[in-house]
Amino acid sequence: MNLLGITSGQRVADIGAGLGYYTVRLARRLGPGATIFATDVKVEYLNRLKERLTRERIAGVRVVLGLPRDPRLPPDSVYVAILSHMYHEIENPYEFLYRLRPALVAGARVGIIDTDEPTQRHGTPPALLRCELAAVGYRELDFVLLTPADGYLAIFATPETLPQPEAITPCRASGSRSTPTGFRSRPSILAVSPSAWPTRSLAMTMTEDRAQARTHEVVSEESLVRN
Ligand SMILES: C[S@@+](CC[C@H](N)C(=O)[O-])C[C@H]1O[C@@H](n2cnc3c(N)ncnc32)[C@H](O)[C@@H]1O
Repeated sequence: MNLLGITSGQRVADIGAGLGYYTVRLARRLGPGATIFATDVKVEYLNRLKERLTRERIAGVRVVLGLPRDPRLPPDSVYVAILSHMYHEIENPYEFLYRLRPALVAGARVGIIDTDEPTQRHGTPPALLRCELAAVGYRELDFVLLTPADGYLAIFATPETLPQPEAITPCRASGSRSTPTGFRSRPSILAVSPSAWPTRSLAMTMTEDRAQARTHEVVSEESLVRN
C-alpha cells in the first residue's frame, strides 16, 4: 500500500477482493471516511465479506458484484486499483482492462500482485502481464519482488487514451492463453460480442480453500524488496 501511494481521501478498489484480505487492511489504513470498492464475481465471497465488515465494524466499503469481463465500477471513481492474486483468473484481460479504464481517474494507478507462474498454475508471467497491459495502453511504473512469498507487485499508470479494440494485438505466451482469430476485425467495443475478445486457454476457478490459502500467502509490506 505504501508503494502504491495509498493515502487517506483516495478512493481505492480491491478488485477480486475474495474474502477481503486487502479490503480490511485498506479500510483500517484509510479510516472511516474512506471509499473502498470491493469487487468480486462470486456472490458467496461478497456475502461473507459483508458479514466480516459488519462483524468487525468496518465502514466505508462498497461491495460490488463484478462481471468476469467488467469490474462494473462507477466512472471516474478510483484512484488506486489493487488486483491481488486474481489477474490470472480474468478470462479476458483485454476486455476487462478496457472496461476498467473509465472507472480510473486521471493519474490513477493499477497495482497487480501475482506470482511468476504460468496462468494454469495460478500465476502470471511478468512478460505476459506487461504485454497484456501494454496492449490496452497501461504503462508500467514499477515492478517489485515480494519476499518471502514467491510473487511480485507490478504498478501501471492508467492509459491516457484507449486503443480501438480491433487494434489490440493479443499477446502470446507459451501455455498461457489462447488467441482466437477474429478479434481485430471487430469495429468497436460496443459491437464486440463477448466471444470475439481473446480469452485464456483455461477457465480458472478458485476453491474457497485456495482463497484462504492465498490470503495467508500475501506478505506484509515490511517484507517488500526492490527488484
Ligand atoms: C485467489 S483469490 C484472491 C483474493 C484476494 N484478492 C487475496 O489476495 O486474498 C481470487 C479472487 O478473484 C475473484 N475473481 C476472479 N475473476 C474475477 C473477475 N473477473 N473480476 C473480479 N473478481 C474476480 C475470485 O472470485 C476470487 O475471489
